[in-house]
Amino acid sequence: MASSVLKRDHKCAQVNAEMAGQDVCLAGWVNVVRDLGGIIFVELRDSTGKVQLIADPNKNKAIHDQFVDLKNEFVIAIRGKVAKRPEGTAKSESGSGAIEIYPDQFELLNTCRPLPFQLDQGDKVDEALRLKYRYLDLRRPEMNSNLVMRHRVSQAIRKYLDHEGFIEVETPILCKATPEGARDFLVPSRLNPGNWYALPQSPQLFKQTLMISGVDRYYQVARCFRDEDLRADRQPEFTQIDMEFSFVDEDEVMRVTEGLLVDAFKCAGIDIQPPFQRLSYSDAMGLYGSDKPDLRFDLAFKDLTEVAKNCQFKVFKQVAEAGGELKAIVLEGRGESSSRKQLDLWNEYTKSVGGKGLAWIAFGNDTNRSSGLDKHLSVEEIQKIKELCSAKAGDLVLMMADTAKSVANVMGRFRLKLAEELNLIDTNIHSLLWVVDFPLFEYDEEQGRLMAVHHPFTSPRLEDLDSLETAPEKARARAYDIVYNGCEIGGGSIRIHSQELQSRAFAAIGLDNETASEKFGFLLEALESGAPPHGGIALGLDRMIMLLCGCKSIRDVIAFPKTQSGACPMTGAPSLASPEQLKELAVLNEPPKAKVATTLR
Ligand code: AMO
Repeated sequence: MASSVLKRDHKCAQVNAEMAGQDVCLAGWVNVVRDLGGIIFVELRDSTGKVQLIADPNKNKAIHDQFVDLKNEFVIAIRGKVAKRPEGTAKSESGSGAIEIYPDQFELLNTCRPLPFQLDQGDKVDEALRLKYRYLDLRRPEMNSNLVMRHRVSQAIRKYLDHEGFIEVETPILCKATPEGARDFLVPSRLNPGNWYALPQSPQLFKQTLMISGVDRYYQVARCFRDEDLRADRQPEFTQIDMEFSFVDEDEVMRVTEGLLVDAFKCAGIDIQPPFQRLSYSDAMGLYGSDKPDLRFDLAFKDLTEVAKNCQFKVFKQVAEAGGELKAIVLEGRGESSSRKQLDLWNEYTKSVGGKGLAWIAFGNDTNRSSGLDKHLSVEEIQKIKELCSAKAGDLVLMMADTAKSVANVMGRFRLKLAEELNLIDTNIHSLLWVVDFPLFEYDEEQGRLMAVHHPFTSPRLEDLDSLETAPEKARARAYDIVYNGCEIGGGSIRIHSQELQSRAFAAIGLDNETASEKFGFLLEALESGAPPHGGIALGLDRMIMLLCGCKSIRDVIAFPKTQSGACPMTGAPSLASPEQLKELAVLNEPPKAKVATTLR
């Protein structure tokens, strides 16, 4: 094909009825061709929109002859006069939907192989096929607009952070393991046989080091890599808006983050009003069974443990005596309408997610229906439940007794299921909240020891410092997560900036000095070299864009994402390496045990 003669001078969305009579040159893809008995209609699409082209053999036979061979996704350029569409045929009052063009020049820029799927059916085809032909998938206007939204949000964020005094600094991709706690991706070092780089799970150690270097406020649109099991909101490589501030406290990190989110959300036409609500971790777990509660609807748990403690019903009493809880969700006005079958299904659901079963009472005017509770509880106890739940006739109370952890987990999931099933989520609400006062450590069953909930550089709350040695599991962290509509879109903390406190925090999780120094020695030394107080946060950009675009999967807002099994169907990554490559990297051979000399060469 010869090189292009026609030179595009407008994009589709720029052409409108006010330009009637003006000559324009457009270029793009054939979206649809319709041959209506002689007259051929072609919808031309570019990255901005669509324009209708018409080839009428009676007006311009040469153009019509060329249009006859057009197929979907051929690449063309045309020149012609803009004309208002006749009365009643306009697709829209304004913009390119109100006009059409009878081209008088045409150029075929490229053809297209038969399509593996029709682009307008893209949302119905198997995602693996879309990912294999991602270049076609991304041509779909809805996918294209996700990329545009991502760009707009990133630009708004960059502008905002620049204005707030942040500088953008890039940190290494080939580095040493970072402390986020997922599995690392490793890269063998050819120059240092047997030694490996880890890809950063986040720039955590570097951004703290930058504070010690005197960078007052750092940010980076940072790629992060975590080898963890994938879900709809997780990718093995993803992007964070990563920030760190020196001489800062929680309030300032939150103020800056809230302002950033205001600008980011504005890109999607959403107005949000800071300051956002703050909820302690213990309230979030106790009231909603989640550290990222969706507060677009209520269904907060009611605590009935005092009834369980004092009653004669063994199932409840034993749980309460063992330190467990009895908690309830109240469904207003659903007492009568909830059938036995429905209640059985909910009971089955709670069991399927690890619960021991659901007890329920449907309060009536004179008599109540229940899951047999009237046989085990006194009239007074049932009345007490009604009071504690602020329930009235017609309401349904759904209860579960178990350990606090199990109640939170099962009832937390059940709460979300109920909201979805009963359509309780108002999609016009944008719920943003901070979850604060996380525990500093939690017990890890697998490892049999305490682990840092965020990462081991998170500062304990000052009033909890003493408990580091006496009751470390009770110490609270100066950490905060930001939650949007039930999804954690970011998290961070005020860091430890004293080496002495850092050693105590390591000791609390059983990390001795030698191991700590092996892993993070440089940071520990740096902390002793005039480290300013500092703290920061990282926002998950992909997650945020997914929610702003109303997508269900993070993959829809990443240009070239990985599948659930970490593969890229388009390029075929990951792929086998040749024996020569492996040998050169000392991966096949018994690796030498030598450690890398870290002196400069
Ligand atoms: P954290 O590990 O909480 O904190 O990560 C911050 C945010 O990154 C997003 N995120 C992910 N997004 C997509 N795929 C993943 N696999 C994934 N993992 C995390 C989430 C999360 O809230 N260095 C600390 C931040 C700090 O302390 O400043 C960190 O990385 O939205």
